[in-house]
Amino acid sequence: MIKTKNLSKDYGSLTAVANLNLTIQQGDIFGFIGPNGAGKTTTMRILVTLLEPTHGTAFIDGLDVRKKGKKVRKLVGYMPDFMGVYDDLKVFEYLEFFAAAFAIERKKRKSIVDGVLELTDLQSKRSATVDSLSRGMQQRLGLARVLIHDPKVLILDEPASGLDPRARIEIRELLRELKRMGKTIMISSHILSELEEICDHVGIIEHGRMVFSGTLEEIRPRLGIESKVRVQVANNQDKAVELLSALPQIRQVQVIDDYISVTFGDDQEGDGIIARTLVNGGLDVTFLQPEQLKLDDAFLQLTKGIVH
Ligand SMILES: Nc1ncnc2c1ncn2[C@@H]1O[C@H](COP(=O)(O)OP(=O)(O)OP(=O)(O)O)[C@@H](O)[C@H]1O
Ligand SMILES: [Mg+2]
Repeated sequence: MIKTKNLSKDYGSLTAVANLNLTIQQGDIFGFIGPNGAGKTTTMRILVTLLEPTHGTAFIDGLDVRKKGKKVRKLVGYMPDFMGVYDDLKVFEYLEFFAAAFAIERKKRKSIVDGVLELTDLQSKRSATVDSLSRGMQQRLGLARVLIHDPKVLILDEPASGLDPRARIEIRELLRELKRMGKTIMISSHILSELEEICDHVGIIEHGRMVFSGTLEEIRPRLGIESKVRVQVANNQDKAVELLSALPQIRQVQVIDDYISVTFGDDQEGDGIIARTLVNGGLDVTFLQPEQLKLDDAFLQLTKGIVH
């Protein structure tokens, strides 16, 4: 549904996006992750035809953004990183204004506006002024706005930035709902743990280059990242540490309060080896849990240039 082909953008001598190739399948939520200045906004602005690439191009539903701008704009809903502030404009007026801008017939506008207000849970704020809304509500209004023309593709530039945890969860729920409706969603963030739960695929970009693209499960072997397991034994923690430290597969054994954190290489069998060793050593294992690879960790590894 979204494809870039050797996409590049220079600002004078600065290359903001360099030969970027990415593919986003229909119905996916794609997390576009990178630190400040990585080129996320630049890429998104090219995809929604607000910016011309220097080289290469991109396609939305098969349409070249350089040649079919008008059609592309009908297909995409773009939520920029900063929303304009409209003083004294009421929520429904704001949405009706965008409905008019998208050339939606006057008699249909009210029901469409009501529909997006309901979806974003903003009905009660219908007649409030836009600038009186909290940041979380303003972000939801931003989403309501991009949904007005019922686009197939949503391109959302950091929709969760500056939100409190509850508002973030609400946005996440809303994105899930939009996925259920069949939308293809590209969402940027540097708040990585956010995207971890909702994304089907992620792309990690740094200095305009894609350093990783794939599923979250694919990040782990790609990085050769370490896995960790937390273990607790009923008694004799010292003996457990001694037994585990003697295992060749294990890189590090740390005692943290009443549990032991065991680090081993990328070995799916690691927790089995740990359990067997402890049980064979006559110890009672009361707790054993692999620690999930956090996207933040993967991101730090990648941007430290440890990619193989
Ligand atoms: N209009 C512009 N003129 C010149 N340089 C620009 C312009 N817009 C962006 N840049 C530069 O291009 C690079 C990429 O910027 P971009 O805004 O795409 O990054 P980003 O990944 O969205 O960052 P952030 O996380 O801070 O939003 C940066 O070095 C930035 O300074
Ligand atoms: Mg940006």
